[in-house]
Amino acid sequence: MFSYPQKNNLSSNPEPDSHSNHDRRTLTDKLRQQHEVIKNDAGEWVLLRHADVMAAALDDSTFSSQVSRFLQIPNGLDGAEHDRFRALIDSYLNQSALTPYLPVFKDVASEIMSALPKDTVINAVTDIGAVFAVRAQCAWLGWPAGLEPVLLQWITDNHNATRSKDNAKMAQVAQDFNEIIRSVIIPYRSADNTDNALKDIDGHTVTAQLCCERVDGRELSEAELVSILRNWTGGDLGSIALCVGVIVAYLVEHPEQINVWAGASNTDLEAMIDEVLRIDDPFPSNRRVTTCPVTIGEHQLPKGARVQLNWTSANRDETVFGDNSFAPEDHAADNLVYGIGRHVCPGRLLATWQLRIATQALLAHINHIALAPNHPLEREQPPLGGYRDVPVILS
Ligand code: HEM
Repeated sequence: MFSYPQKNNLSSNPEPDSHSNHDRRTLTDKLRQQHEVIKNDAGEWVLLRHADVMAAALDDSTFSSQVSRFLQIPNGLDGAEHDRFRALIDSYLNQSALTPYLPVFKDVASEIMSALPKDTVINAVTDIGAVFAVRAQCAWLGWPAGLEPVLLQWITDNHNATRSKDNAKMAQVAQDFNEIIRSVIIPYRSADNTDNALKDIDGHTVTAQLCCERVDGRELSEAELVSILRNWTGGDLGSIALCVGVIVAYLVEHPEQINVWAGASNTDLEAMIDEVLRIDDPFPSNRRVTTCPVTIGEHQLPKGARVQLNWTSANRDETVFGDNSFAPEDHAADNLVYGIGRHVCPGRLLATWQLRIATQALLAHINHIALAPNHPLEREQPPLGGYRDVPVILS
């Protein structure tokens, strides 16, 4: 999912933050106890509690998603306009559309995990998560393998720009990504290449098929196609990589779970992964803007107030999740890792399957996984979540 360009630091608060190896959750855990809502340095009202985040996500007429001057399909759209594009997008991400790709994802995962270096320190986020995310997504979208190094470099550049909170750098990486996508779709967009596009559709190339879609009886514009594909790739590649980091960090910190996970059914493993991501949600937040005055607790938010839904905090709210112990079954119904409401993540099934398949392949190809001695886990810097470095040794 997208995350660009988005400010969501809370740095007006009296806590140390972005430049240390600081677990951001300790800050939001503390703030959530004391405040219903806080205002951050960017002037955004940050909703921290489960009930408030859920209510705002469900009330999409009061909390509009039109927060950016950039075209964002479908996440920046409201109401009926959103529904039109969302129906199209859902048709690519539902169970029957994705099922044919299960063997593809398994092959990609097996190829990557079997080639991982043993008995040396690797970073689970970049060496496992990012590589898997890029290769699996290229396979799904029908993008050339030659793009893999370009996309991996882009993930690094994007994370660096996001950490820097420098608008010019963030705009540049966004522009770079648009150019990558344009290079992929141009062959399918030129009139005399219709035959090519159709030939590829027969081969189930998702990108070729998308380029031939129509909305309201007209073709999608290049800008619309780029925006849709950006949301399926740009933020998502980084999110999947960060999720893999959180999953591997959990396993090395709970080695007793490794055999349990290795023997679990697909459904149980997916539920366990969802619960790990709930406790340490690496996809921190999304933005909204109020369409009328709103009261949240004792606070009056005016019309036009910029609001941040903090998923990471909401997913740890003690009033819903008690002491935040690991309890997949008990917590599944309230888990907000993939959001809720009109904008709930359409890529949830794809992400769930990819993360489960990557985890299964990793566990199938190793005898042992441990945190590398003298290499501490390193947290990502806000506004990113999860880890920057999960240094592990496989054997
Ligand atoms: C582990 C990975 C992922 C996480 C944690 C995640 C999380 C989320 C969340 C929380 C939202 C709600 C945003 C909001 O309410 O404003 C969302 C929306 C969205 N996600 Fe994901 N996502 C993931 C993977 C994916 C994938 C794989 C895709 C597509 C290939 C995807 C595409 C989207 C899109 C297009 C939206 C906007 C939906 C709308 O506005 O209607 N996501 N995602």
